Amino acid sequence: MLDWDDPLGNLGNKKANEKQINSLSESYALSGVLNKTRHNNGDNSANKFTSDAVDNSVDNLIKTTAKVDTDSTRISSQAMLSLAEEQDNIERSIDPVKASDKRVINGLADVNQLAPFKYPWAWEYFLNANKNHWTPLDINMAQDVHDYQHTLTENEKHVYENVLAYLTTSDILAMRNIGLAVMEKMTAPELQIYQARQVYEEALHTWTYQHCIETIGLDQSEIYNRYRVVPEINAKIQLANRRLNSVMRNDIDLTNPAELNNFVMAYAFFAGIFEGCWFYNGFTPIFSLQRRGLMKGTSEQLQYIMRDEVMHASFGIRVVKQIMLENEVQLDPIAIREMWDESEAVEIGYANYLLGKNPILGYSADDHIEQFRFIANRRARQLGFEEPFPGAENRSPWLDEQANMRKEKNFFETRVTEYQTGGALSWD
Ligand SMILES: [Fe+2]
Ligand SMILES: [Fe+2]
Repeated sequence: MLDWDDPLGNLGNKKANEKQINSLSESYALSGVLNKTRHNNGDNSANKFTSDAVDNSVDNLIKTTAKVDTDSTRISSQAMLSLAEEQDNIERSIDPVKASDKRVINGLADVNQLAPFKYPWAWEYFLNANKNHWTPLDINMAQDVHDYQHTLTENEKHVYENVLAYLTTSDILAMRNIGLAVMEKMTAPELQIYQARQVYEEALHTWTYQHCIETIGLDQSEIYNRYRVVPEINAKIQLANRRLNSVMRNDIDLTNPAELNNFVMAYAFFAGIFEGCWFYNGFTPIFSLQRRGLMKGTSEQLQYIMRDEVMHASFGIRVVKQIMLENEVQLDPIAIREMWDESEAVEIGYANYLLGKNPILGYSADDHIEQFRFIANRRARQLGFEEPFPGAENRSPWLDEQANMRKEKNFFETRVTEYQTGGALSWD
């Protein structure tokens, strides 16, 4: 049974802490005794060295205590002052927040009042996200272990492992982006609440990959380190890291138009490309195995993840458009073109590394690249941008079916899962 008060069984540590506190008190008591007796030992040279050392320690202790007392007094006075100011502000403005006062960024309305909503769609996203709930432990992985050990070819193993290696790193990056760089800049709580759920979902995705890696018995440290030693995986991660680092700074000021422009570009990249394209068709190589009856457990896990990612992409795109509208942001078409081109270039490198020399049955590097371009056009339309790759073909029309399939049909004969507990959802 799980002990909810001590889930990791750390009571031992608690005892250790108590012991530490006791010995600390004993030291204080001992210092007090020595302080009283040291003057009686003035002529005793044998004791002088010890006595001086104790003098210093006790003096330091007294100084430290005095400083702590002064600091606490200062902090208390400051706290009281700011409480008084806060009280003053509340008294001056006690009217409920008006929806019209809210803004996505740089807003001044109280962020601790959820309603009235200015962005009711954000609240709907949160409610819908909660209908798409699972954990990786819900899915049977037994057949995957057998497939990996006995059925997959070396090329298929190469694809499977490298897709996981890319995804594990990517999902941590996605979590850091939304949780550390984006969420704190939002000034409407309904947006932050969906993003908080998104942070949780990214963590859940990381758990899912870890569960697959562990269940299949892959070398964890090797898989997790792969993005640093495979240049084609590294290039995608570095591109995303560059965008993330440009907006994850304490000194960022979104009232500055250049900074705001950069923030919008970074968010458009993460929502439209990183989540909207790279995740969306990043799962496709493994779905192509699933279509041949292989690695069905992993694929089912990825189907759940893909639905989350489609929602993350569509929510992010909506936020980006709203920021642009509220702040009259004009993005530079050349910078947008560069964003598509550099994303395409690293995706081509990645697809060639995965599948270039040795395509797997029913899926090639060319299919992967063309599918990226096709999805990129869709995300561009959603963002209100020009299509970057006009005429790109839909090479994997079954991919949309993967995202839109209702699991209650139990289509893949895995586990009978009531996937969606609410009404019908549109996942894209
Ligand atoms: Fe994710
Ligand atoms: Fe995501």
